[in-house]
Amino acid sequence: MIKPHGGKLVNRILSAAAQESARERAKDLPKIAVSQDTLTDLENIADGIFSPLEGFMNQKDFQSVVDNMRLSNGLPWTIPIILDVEKEVADRLRLDSEVALIDPSGDVAAILYLEDKYSYDKEHLARQVFKTTEDKHPGVKKVYSMGEVLLGGKIDLLKKQPDPYARYNLSPRETRLLFQEKGWETIVAFQTRNPVHRAHEYLQKCALEVVDGLLLHPLVGETKSDDIPTDIRIKCYEVIVKQYYHPQRTIFSVMPVNMRYAGPREAIFHAILRKNYGCTHFIVGRDHAGVGNYYGTYDAHYIFREFSPQELEITPFFFEHAFYCKRCGGMASSKTCPHDSSDHVVLSGTKVREMLSRGEIPPKEFTRQEVAEILIAGLRQQQQQR
Ligand code: ADX
Repeated sequence: MIKPHGGKLVNRILSAAAQESARERAKDLPKIAVSQDTLTDLENIADGIFSPLEGFMNQKDFQSVVDNMRLSNGLPWTIPIILDVEKEVADRLRLDSEVALIDPSGDVAAILYLEDKYSYDKEHLARQVFKTTEDKHPGVKKVYSMGEVLLGGKIDLLKKQPDPYARYNLSPRETRLLFQEKGWETIVAFQTRNPVHRAHEYLQKCALEVVDGLLLHPLVGETKSDDIPTDIRIKCYEVIVKQYYHPQRTIFSVMPVNMRYAGPREAIFHAILRKNYGCTHFIVGRDHAGVGNYYGTYDAHYIFREFSPQELEITPFFFEHAFYCKRCGGMASSKTCPHDSSDHVVLSGTKVREMLSRGEIPPKEFTRQEVAEILIAGLRQQQQQR
């Protein structure tokens, strides 16, 4: 089985007894209230999804990741995992001491062993990671709203937040066990923040032709407000998996990680996380983790050249733009179809959304009709609730 990134699957969840004593200690510790996305990062670290990270990055790792796409020990890592606070908050914290991280209900979610506190250049971070300093970019906007100081150090998790998708949320430990039980040696993971359309399905099934199993692995952490809400997406995944995927060859599970919209850098990040889940292959299509026009269509392919196959270990499966071609009479891609684009059924996300909100079912060459029906019903309900 493929090893986790850095060699060891991290586990920073305290045992029941250790939680008890940490909660006692926390009564006298300085406290910081943390946001939902920090709570998600905390759980990702604790569960080993972010292995080898054991906490929030110190300055050395942060700078190295921002400038060289590697941790300070040279291991590939492309997205900063950081904890920001306002300067006044940072000023009252002592290095080499514990800090209690508090969730919205007032409970201690985790203990941070404060190792480092440092200021940083937001524009530099934005330019390096997101390739733009425009605050219209959702990732950049978030950076600009962050506190002025970053805290680094290992964490221990005491409490997980309620998880509405728990029934589909397998941890890296659980997927690794499942792959072993199934006897799968090669597993391809598919990342998405969207319902599965025909093009997605085509990529997954092409990949599945050459490996043992498919992990359909949508991201269900924070996404931007105009992405399709997760609860609606889950219904779409349920129906498509049931009706169109081979049950012995497919595992549907979710990944509770926040979307960053960092395009190419996020493609590497997504691949590393899937390696931690035990996958050997990872699908990267057109404009992976893209938003607006900030990245070139295949930048997320080219970035893999910056790393050797030995250091990433997980193998990318690159796909070019896929679509239904009327003349081919089936799904194809810009790599395989010789026909003119006027024969291709290609719809933009915006166009599809407009159709769905008018109650119109997009062509069956674009999406499975069962999926379209769920989307129409879901969006209608969303509109009524507003
Ligand atoms: S992502 O932000 O999670 O990457 P999305 O759900 O749009 O977004 O895409 C999931 C995966 O499918 C990504 O690897 C993306 O590059 C790929 N993809 C999406 N649509 C197409 C398409 N029409 N042709 C080729 N690849 C695609």
